[in-house]
Amino acid sequence: MFFASDNWAGAHSKIAERLLAESGGFATAYGLSELDRKVETKFSEIFELDVAIFFVATGSAANSLSLASVQKPGGITFCHSEAHVAEDECGSPDFFSSARLATVSGAAGKIDPGALAAKIARFPQDAVHHGRAAAVTITQATEIGTVYSLDEIDAIAAAAKANGLPLHMDGARFANALVALGTTPAEMTWKRGVDILSFGGTKNGCWCAEAIVFFDPGKAKEMHFIRKRAAQLFSKSRFIASQFDGYFQDGLWLDLARHSNGMADRLRSGLEKTHGARLAWPTTSNEVFAIVPKSSAKTAEDKGAKFYEWPIPESQPGLVGSDETLIRLVTSFATTEAHVANFLACLA
Ligand SMILES: Cc1ncc(COP(=O)(O)O)c(C=O)c1O
Repeated sequence: MFFASDNWAGAHSKIAERLLAESGGFATAYGLSELDRKVETKFSEIFELDVAIFFVATGSAANSLSLASVQKPGGITFCHSEAHVAEDECGSPDFFSSARLATVSGAAGKIDPGALAAKIARFPQDAVHHGRAAAVTITQATEIGTVYSLDEIDAIAAAAKANGLPLHMDGARFANALVALGTTPAEMTWKRGVDILSFGGTKNGCWCAEAIVFFDPGKAKEMHFIRKRAAQLFSKSRFIASQFDGYFQDGLWLDLARHSNGMADRLRSGLEKTHGARLAWPTTSNEVFAIVPKSSAKTAEDKGAKFYEWPIPESQPGLVGSDETLIRLVTSFATTEAHVANFLACLA
């Protein structure tokens, strides 16, 4: 009953096998092996565009270095008030870019385009005292399990582009969002105006595989230096490549995300039928937020269920009653129907 996070799950056997298959022999280091090249080409096929790819170790590194690559002195990056970059990366984006974040409100974990435009207007390019607008970042799927529609991404991109700002997407759960929308990687990114993507594989069945994707390789030249200076250039990069190779083989990455989202669907419908429990807000990816009696949460924990109690969003102070708690449940490629059924039985 592991619902604490999708990164509590191990690695998928096909990815593990692919990694092992590469473990013998020799190959050029530092991202120059044939396998690295093959996987870079695969990324270009998947995105239907020639892209530049940079493997890094963590999602935080992908976000921080992506944002560092578009900064300028006094730069401000705009993100949602509950964004991972603002809440969960210990200031790493600010540290690596010498810039700072400005948060923007918005319902359902998504930036409100009007609020974004208003916030950007407070940091004009000649505002030497306040700092100047430099970039916008959104998270897809969001930190609270919701997913931006294509129209919603268009609206954010329009606000960014109207001010000449690059748009970054934190895709730690890119595959979950993609299958939830039933669209293509190209449609969800560069065709909407996304310039740089943090493409996550770790949460969806890899051991440790994250990539920064530049949709205009001409803008990626500095990233070679930014990544190396941040100590994120893997010498045995082929082992990151081999994970992605297995991940993309025969659409495995999409199958794993569909499974994970499907388990979340099962959890959602079970919670709706569980006396005393209710969904905190509608989610469509692999994260489920539920309001349950504190006593039920305690019983489930005592029976071995793993999940996090979640802070109440500042925008919804009355969300939870005094004898209730908000919990986050995350499914993964490794979640089974039995895990879900056992968890629901514990709560009931
Ligand atoms: C939305 C989001 N972005 C990025 C990350 C990447 O984090 P990490 O640096 O732990 O790989 C996470 C992981 O929890 C996340 O939820």
